[in-house]
Amino acid sequence: MFPIARLRTPIIILGMNTVSLIAEEVRKLGGQNVFIVTDQGVVQAGLLEKILEPLKKEKISYAIFDQVEAEPSIENLLAATQKARTSPVDLFIGLGGGSVMDTTKMVSVLQVHDLDIRELFGVDKVTKPGLPTIMLPTTSGTGSEVTRNAVFTDKRENLKKVVSSQAIVPTVAIVDPMLTVTMPPPITATTGIDAFIHAVESYLAINASPLTDPLAWEATRLIAANLGPAVANGQDLVARYNMSLGSLMAGITLNNAGVGAVHALAYPVGAEYHVPHGIANVVTFIPTMEYISMARIPKFVQLAAAMGEPIAGLAPREVVNRAIGAMRDLIEKVGLPTRLRDIGATADRIPYMAQAAFKEKRLLGNTPRQLTEEDIRKIFEASF
Ligand SMILES: NC(=O)c1ccc[n+]([C@@H]2O[C@H](COP(=O)([O-])OP(=O)(O)OC[C@H]3O[C@@H](n4cnc5c(N)ncnc54)[C@H](O)[C@@H]3O)[C@@H](O)[C@H]2O)c1
Ligand SMILES: [Fe+2]
Repeated sequence: MFPIARLRTPIIILGMNTVSLIAEEVRKLGGQNVFIVTDQGVVQAGLLEKILEPLKKEKISYAIFDQVEAEPSIENLLAATQKARTSPVDLFIGLGGGSVMDTTKMVSVLQVHDLDIRELFGVDKVTKPGLPTIMLPTTSGTGSEVTRNAVFTDKRENLKKVVSSQAIVPTVAIVDPMLTVTMPPPITATTGIDAFIHAVESYLAINASPLTDPLAWEATRLIAANLGPAVANGQDLVARYNMSLGSLMAGITLNNAGVGAVHALAYPVGAEYHVPHGIANVVTFIPTMEYISMARIPKFVQLAAAMGEPIAGLAPREVVNRAIGAMRDLIEKVGLPTRLRDIGATADRIPYMAQAAFKEKRLLGNTPRQLTEEDIRKIFEASF
């Protein structure tokens, strides 16, 4: 009746131009030799300069790995690890989206522990933390700045694999919406819909709690209202601020309540068709919501309200339809694909993908409607 609720987060700093606090935060953690992990898109957007300037001013020495791939492979992680091991390092900085931040988490662990990354996939396999990490997200998407997860592509097995360990939660998250302004509209949409799905899935999750529900609901509201404006005009600072805040809140709820079936289905989709994580999620999102809504009707009513749907006087069943309709509108409005065929999927791969998604027991166990492999196949078919 009264379950215990916990909320774990790193130290969080949110605000415009808070990137300028980086040197101060490095010093607070005793850092003198930092290793910066980033990628080419971020460098070309001119964002690396924003952290180098304060570091130089404070005479903090640094080395850089700027070759993180989108949806990084194990090989890419190992290349970053190799580079870091040639430098004297006492602190890691991740400047980028989820791909960069996930890489930073694991490079920091592998810097001090001689471990095989392939042994670390799964839950709580990393038992000792690495060096301190400071994350600066440049997308409003994954929430990786506050989570225990790091996702890599295993090219050998053509699978996406997750390290999920409390020991890799970042030390400090500096969430500066100004770092997201350079994202072009398609990246804003793709990463932003991931954050939206985190909010909705964690709101509906079995492990949702009185501490996560208000954050998940507010994240849903913020992202529903601001994703369109942020895609329409990247310079809209109010929209960028609200997207950063929404994705941060959704990251906290993802980390504490967990996500569910949509993410389970996204793993084989992402691995098969090599699409960005947000796209892998969005193509099965609406059919999954339709399938599970009957398990959480009161929460769907709340979600409809969060998305600004007029619901007074309507039957709950009708309100559920309005909520799902508003989700579909949001996806279509920002130009994202809505169906598996839109990303080049073929129907003959559905049985394989259903089998693979059914192995994601952790995520499926957190989904309010229990799904069999047959149910998952039906959702994939409805998504086709
Ligand atoms: N750790 C977690 O909890 C978690 C949760 C969800 C997803 N993920 C993982 O995160 C990865 C995806 O991360 P993502 O969606 O943030 O995208 P991403 O990090 O892959 O970045 C996508 C592209 O956007 C560019 N980019 C990033 N910020 C930019 C900016 N401000 N201006 C211009 N270009 C910019 C990058 O260079 C890259 O080319 C996937 O591997 C996914 O599986 C992790
Ligand atoms: Fe996600």
